[in-house]
Amino acid sequence: LNDDSKKEAIDAQLEEIKIAFTYGEIIGIPTETVYGLAADARNSEAIHKVFNAKGRPGDNPLIIHIHSIKQLENFTAPLDERVTKLMEAFWPGPISFILPLTGDYLSSNAVAELDSVAVRMPSHPVGRKILEYTDIPLAAPSANISGKPSPTNAQHVIDDLEGKLYGVVDSESAIYGIESTVLDCTQFPYRIARPGAVTREELEEVLESEIDTVKDESEKPISPGMKYKHYAPSQPLIVIEGGINNNTKLPVDRHQKVGIIAPESAREFISEDIHFIGLCRDRDSYREAARNLYSALRIMDTSDVDIIFIHGFDKVPESEGLMNRIYKATGNEVIRSE
Ligand code: TXA
Ligand code: MG
Repeated sequence: LNDDSKKEAIDAQLEEIKIAFTYGEIIGIPTETVYGLAADARNSEAIHKVFNAKGRPGDNPLIIHIHSIKQLENFTAPLDERVTKLMEAFWPGPISFILPLTGDYLSSNAVAELDSVAVRMPSHPVGRKILEYTDIPLAAPSANISGKPSPTNAQHVIDDLEGKLYGVVDSESAIYGIESTVLDCTQFPYRIARPGAVTREELEEVLESEIDTVKDESEKPISPGMKYKHYAPSQPLIVIEGGINNNTKLPVDRHQKVGIIAPESAREFISEDIHFIGLCRDRDSYREAARNLYSALRIMDTSDVDIIFIHGFDKVPESEGLMNRIYKATGNEVIRSE
């Protein structure tokens, strides 16, 4: 195609997407974190379809995606200047802000009847283009069946939701691979409701004050979504704290087929009969590990292994989001490396 006909083809696709959203259809769209299952956030019927397709509990609110801060005037109070500062520093990008909700512009089932709303401006060029062209506030949870690993490419979305959506916009794989950081800005000090690509240190540096984190799992989760088991393959999944080394002994029966997900650098410690998936190069390649995590869990899920072990990464600020997802996926099943 020459440039002119390419542009026409893209415009035709954008127009089709816009019309579909207007008619209450739901569509898989790429973002830089994970693929989202998007619907017009003002259309209750469309939102209902999103919850149904995912099998998502109705008390778990969706994130609203926007392309311009101006759109917030329709459904949040005027922004606190500290929030504006954070938005300027991290948007477009992998962070969602929970803000006080106003009015009835948004469908109340999109926000699970709460008086707050999570909002995000994605940086993915195709996701952004869709938001700009349609100019529709899009409610979009991750485009997976509830409880399963989030999708990091279009094929994952099709594997989970084929027949339940209008279509999927195919684009490159998500570069972050885990969901956005969710920051609760409805009270000060602000609190991290879900760790993600943007770290507490980065937020504190811009804010010049401290951010709270929900540390204790027994504490009432402030993000309703955090109370459910998540990101999980169907087999038992166990994290090996301290990582895998020469002396790692796996608690398995001889007849069990074993899978291991770990950095490539651990491969030398693992025998040939084990199904090994290399997550990243080294023990400190946290970003690469996050990018490949859900894909690795999905491959194991559909393989013939009976039990899966996953390398526990060192607990440093840059690994917080990654380790949060790993613990959620394991349901906190942990063994310690000697
Ligand atoms: O990266 C992402 O955030 C992806 C992409 C598609 O943008 N979306 C995503 O959405 O992960 P979802 O629905 O899978 O996760 C939304 C999380 C849930 O844990 C939910 O409970 C929380 O955000 N959440 C949304 N609105 C909230 C609110 N008003 N108060 C507290 N938590 C909220
Ligand atoms: Mg999700």
